Amino acid sequence: MIKKLSFSKPIFVLAPLAGFTDLPFRSVVKKFGADLTVSEMLSSNALVYNSKKTFHMLEKSPIEDPYSVQIAGSSVDIVKGAVEILNEHDGIDIIDLNCGCPVPKVVSHGSGSSLLLDLPLMGSIIKTIKDTSNKSMTSVKVRLGFEKKNHIDIAKMVEDSGADFIAVHGRTRAGKFKAEVDYDAIKEMKEAISIPVIANGDIDSYDKAKWVLEHTGTDGVMIGRGAVGAPWIFHQLRSGEKDISMSLKHEIIMEHFDKMMEFYGGHGVPMFRKHVHTYTKGYRGASKLRDEVNRIGNIKEFRDIIDEFFKNGEFA
Ligand SMILES: Cc1cc2nc3c(=O)[nH]c(=O)nc-3n(C[C@H](O)[C@H](O)[C@H](O)COP(=O)(O)O)c2cc1C
Repeated sequence: MIKKLSFSKPIFVLAPLAGFTDLPFRSVVKKFGADLTVSEMLSSNALVYNSKKTFHMLEKSPIEDPYSVQIAGSSVDIVKGAVEILNEHDGIDIIDLNCGCPVPKVVSHGSGSSLLLDLPLMGSIIKTIKDTSNKSMTSVKVRLGFEKKNHIDIAKMVEDSGADFIAVHGRTRAGKFKAEVDYDAIKEMKEAISIPVIANGDIDSYDKAKWVLEHTGTDGVMIGRGAVGAPWIFHQLRSGEKDISMSLKHEIIMEHFDKMMEFYGGHGVPMFRKHVHTYTKGYRGASKLRDEVNRIGNIKEFRDIIDEFFKNGEFA
């Protein structure tokens, strides 16, 4: 089996963001040079019980190579069943286990960041994925702990259970998405284990990415919210270029819209409204445009309005 993901130099990864990093968004981002894209979180229960929506979420764009699918679960048997189902799907290179999600609905099932409270169970699940999967790699995405940091124990358990690499969001579950990111703790994890470590949390610019890589010594950075409303960020992260031309932004936003319609059909229209919000944030005319698109359900009408807005650089 060929390992498509190389860590010979630091890698740039698009973080999984449920509700944002679907196939249309990932395919637009990938063009700008993300080394790895990850599916939205899929429940292993939903995979096992053949949820149609979940299978749709599994699809990838042909340019997503390598491609990682993230699963959540808290039962060894159900996760095993989910991996067996993923084994029947080609084009997946990595299975990633979610051990970071703080959302009560996920935590109350013992999944996501709850696994950080039961490291032996987390270890058994990782080992099960590794032993069952026919993909090249197994990875794990964690936080620094649940209430308190136990990041070194987490890192060691992930490594000992056979994972090929780990991504760390540098907050505890209690820190949600707001507490200051503890890059020193990420550095300590990197120093404690020998598998590659990817740093995550509040990385949104070339300078920040460079600083985090130098400070933590990690093998890559993962970017989530920094890519929302700015799918071109991976180009900026690589080149240090601050300005992206209006005409390129216009082209990308329209491509994103068209891909959404292709993937979701008419359901894509209400879903694209949140992207209109993110693309226009802070720009002149944004609230008028948002009001307009909130009232439109027709694909062509919606397309014409945003095309006109972005083409005219009204959001300059
Ligand atoms: C709206 C939203 C959805 C998210 N969904 C997921 C998810 O499905 N799986 C996951 O591991 N993390 C998820 N995260 C966490 C991100 O992957 C990432 O760890 C976190 O946002 C910190 O990185 P950032 O500051 O670059 O966004 C989500 C975060 C947000 C804001």
